[in-house]
Amino acid sequence: MVGSFTLDLISVWAEDVKLQAEAENLAKSLKLEFTSSKPSTKLVLYFSAKGLGITFTNEKPFRPFQVDFQNPEWQFRKRRGLADNKMFFSALALAPGKKILDTTAGFGQDAFLMAWAGAKVTAIERSQIVFELLRDGLVRAQGWEETPERISLVRGEAITFLGPSFDCIYIDPMFDKPKKTAKSPKSMQLLQGLLEESDPLPLIAAARQVCKRVVVKLPLKGDAIAGEPNITYKGQSIRFDVYTSV
Ligand SMILES: C[S@@+](CC[C@H](N)C(=O)[O-])C[C@H]1O[C@@H](n2cnc3c(N)ncnc32)[C@H](O)[C@@H]1O
Repeated sequence: MVGSFTLDLISVWAEDVKLQAEAENLAKSLKLEFTSSKPSTKLVLYFSAKGLGITFTNEKPFRPFQVDFQNPEWQFRKRRGLADNKMFFSALALAPGKKILDTTAGFGQDAFLMAWAGAKVTAIERSQIVFELLRDGLVRAQGWEETPERISLVRGEAITFLGPSFDCIYIDPMFDKPKKTAKSPKSMQLLQGLLEESDPLPLIAAARQVCKRVVVKLPLKGDAIAGEPNITYKGQSIRFDVYTSV
C-alpha cells in the first residue's frame, strides 16, 4: 500500500526513451510496474524532460503534479516578501543559521520557507513517493537563492532522527482530511491519497524530550495534541502550538 492506494494502482511511465532507465530504476525501487506506453493504472508517476510528476491517469488535460518552487505561486510569495509569513517564523524563532528539523516534509512548502529565511533544514519524509517528488523539485530548484542547498532531505521515520542538535523541531501532522471535491487542489487530493495517517503524539512527546522548542501546526480550532502549549500563534485557519523548555 501507498496511503490509500494499493501498489497495483500506480505505475511509472517515461515520456521519452532517454528517460526510461531512470524511470525503470525508480519503478524497481518503489516496487511499481514500469510501462513504456500509456498506463491503465489509476495513477502514474511520470518522467518527462520537466522532471518527475504524478497524476491520475485519466486527468484531462494530462498535467502531472510536480513539486515546483519556481511556479507563479512561489514567485508571488517571493514578491510579497517574508513579512507575510511572520507568524510562522516567530513560532519557529527562525533566524539565519538556525537548525530546524522538519519531521513532516510533505511537498516541502514549510521547509522551503524555513530555508528561504536562512535556516538550515533537515527535512524528513517517510512516504517514498512523496519523498521522490520533493527530491525532484528540490533538484530543479537548485541555484534559486541558495534555498534548496539549505535543505537536507532524508527519507525515513522522523522519530529516529530526533536529536539535541536542533534549535527547533517542527511537526505538521496531517489533519482535517479534506473531502474530495472537484475544487480540492489536485496536489491536496494526491497528497491525501498517498499518505498514511498516524498518531503524532509519540513523535511530539519524543521531540519534547530532546529539543527546547517544538512547534506543532494545527487547524485553528483543533484540539491541542500534547497538552497545553507554552505559546500559541493564531492565523486565520491554522495555528502553531509551541512547546518550550529551558
Ligand atoms: C501535512 S503533510 C506536511 C506538509 C508539509 N509541512 C509542507 O509544507 O508541504 C505531512 C507529511 O509528513 C509525513 N509524515 C507524517 N508523519 C511522519 C513521520 N513520523 N515521519 C516522517 N514523515 C512523516 C507524511 O508522509 C506527509 O507527507
